[in-house]
Amino acid sequence: MRILTGIQPSGTPHLGNYFGAMRQVCELQEKGESFLFIADYHALTTNPEPRLLRERVFNLALDFIACGIDLDRTVFFRQSAVPEVCELAWILDTVTPVGLLERAHSYKDKIAKGFSPNNGLFSYPVLMAADILLYGSDLVPVGKDQKQHLEITRDLAIKFNNQYGGIFRIPEGYIPEAVAIVPGTDGQKMSKSYGNTIPLFGTEKETRKAIMNIVTDCRGLDDPKDPDSCNVVALFKLFASPEELAEMCERYRAGGYGYGHAKQALFEKMWNYFEPMRRRRAELAADPGYVEEVLRRNGERARSEAEKTLKRVRRAVGLR
Ligand code: ADP
Ligand code: TRP
Repeated sequence: MRILTGIQPSGTPHLGNYFGAMRQVCELQEKGESFLFIADYHALTTNPEPRLLRERVFNLALDFIACGIDLDRTVFFRQSAVPEVCELAWILDTVTPVGLLERAHSYKDKIAKGFSPNNGLFSYPVLMAADILLYGSDLVPVGKDQKQHLEITRDLAIKFNNQYGGIFRIPEGYIPEAVAIVPGTDGQKMSKSYGNTIPLFGTEKETRKAIMNIVTDCRGLDDPKDPDSCNVVALFKLFASPEELAEMCERYRAGGYGYGHAKQALFEKMWNYFEPMRRRRAELAADPGYVEEVLRRNGERARSEAEKTLKRVRRAVGLR
């Protein structure tokens, strides 16, 4: 089974990204042959500053390798290392009804927020379909927000196959429903757009500061507290054993245990949890040549796979 997913280099990853996406991607490596890429062509739809885009792509590569991407099993590359994907997107464009793209939620949301959309934003799902179909993917793990894009991919693949013969494998989406939403420091969903994140690989000072900023109610040190409605406990749960969690809940209910104590306990748990990954990340950051080489080598591997599909597609549609 071939598993493929892409991730946008959209900024510093946080605990929500780790527990909601990155960890799953690492776990899925056990289940089949994985392709994972950094969606830098897609990132261009927001016209990021070029230097910033380069930095984000590189940092995301460090983050993923540090979090457990197994470079012996997973083809980990930059989307733009395979320009063939743009050619396939163009060919798919010619079987894509405009109405299908006009109905895409993510596009409609951007319009509703007042963005003046470029054509890249409009045809974003077609490039995503090309990403998926180019590598003959069977399973595509994505967040809930990408579900419709996956349906568009399937529609386009079926339409193309009906018109030109069975070239594409029809992929299945995989949306890990069991993943709980990680709350941010203000109790809403943790998200870059809400400014309530705890960064995955922040410095000790940044991490401590973010944790100390978690919103709690105004109960004093001696008061009994409700663990079930507390953001600190909700985050502690991600790292603690059932016994450690039960112990914290007990202390909350008994009183004499302040939110500052709980935050300190959360900080220590989180800091220790990510310690090996943080160390690995620092090693990688100190050897940028190695990371570049990994991305380059994997890009070539992905490209040779892509060329095979594209050759069949070109022949099927009547290009030489
Ligand atoms: P953000 O909201 O910070 O911009 P993204 O939309 O880039 O995050 O999300 C990237 C991935 O991380 C998606 O698969 C998404 O489902 C997951 N994710 C983001 N925030 C959370 C969260 N708070 N809890 C669980 N998963 C999350
Ligand atoms: N659109 C996806 C996101 O924002 C990223 C992405 C691009 C992707 N191409 C893909 C995901 C192909 C899965 C498969 O999260």
